[in-house]
Amino acid sequence: MLRIGVLVSGGGTNLQAIIDKIEDKTIKNTQIVAVVSNKQNAYALERIKKYNIEGKCIKPSDYLTKKDFTLALRDYFLSLEVDLIVLAGYLVVLSEEFVQAFPNKIMNIHPSLIPAFCGNGFYGLRVHKGVIERGVKITGATVHFVDEGTDTGPIILQKPVEVKENDTPEILQRRVMEEAEWVIYPEAIRLYAEGRIIVENNKVKILDSI
Ligand code: GRF
Repeated sequence: MLRIGVLVSGGGTNLQAIIDKIEDKTIKNTQIVAVVSNKQNAYALERIKKYNIEGKCIKPSDYLTKKDFTLALRDYFLSLEVDLIVLAGYLVVLSEEFVQAFPNKIMNIHPSLIPAFCGNGFYGLRVHKGVIERGVKITGATVHFVDEGTDTGPIILQKPVEVKENDTPEILQRRVMEEAEWVIYPEAIRLYAEGRIIVENNKVKILDSI
């Protein structure tokens, strides 16, 4: 059984997409053992109640230093013996003590085709605003492993999405979620649960199913 811990800050629509695929058994032998938010009122914590998933708020302001917070978060997931940590709209930057405790075991989704429109400052609507301002015709989403950099870890899956002429950042954000994020995030977790993702020289290789 793959044990997943999820980190969220907001609405949790990606979390919902993942739960749906676990519930309908597209993703097999997998359990979400905890969802941790840095915000007490994150709607993601509401969503999980009906699935009997443990929810918790662990926030930096409860600790004296960022390091204390990081170690508390790390130790919580270690105590739960998680095999994979999924960042689903998590807005806290994780320190290296955390990342190094789970090498190639933390996944994130970014709402663009990395390496475009990623890195420091590119989060939320800012990504889509940047895409529209540059006038690119194709954007998309990327699932990647998390390393010590910002959006620099090995790329697992990507999916393109068309940018349309009258798009606003909000309209484009919604299309990227519907057409790409909610599709490739559960898919990446399915591949991981099936033991089909390996990382070699900082690149992901996806093994065929047996
Ligand atoms: C998504 O756009 C995701 O790409 C980004 O944060 C947003 C989270 O949305 N990392 P939600 O909380 O899953 O609805």
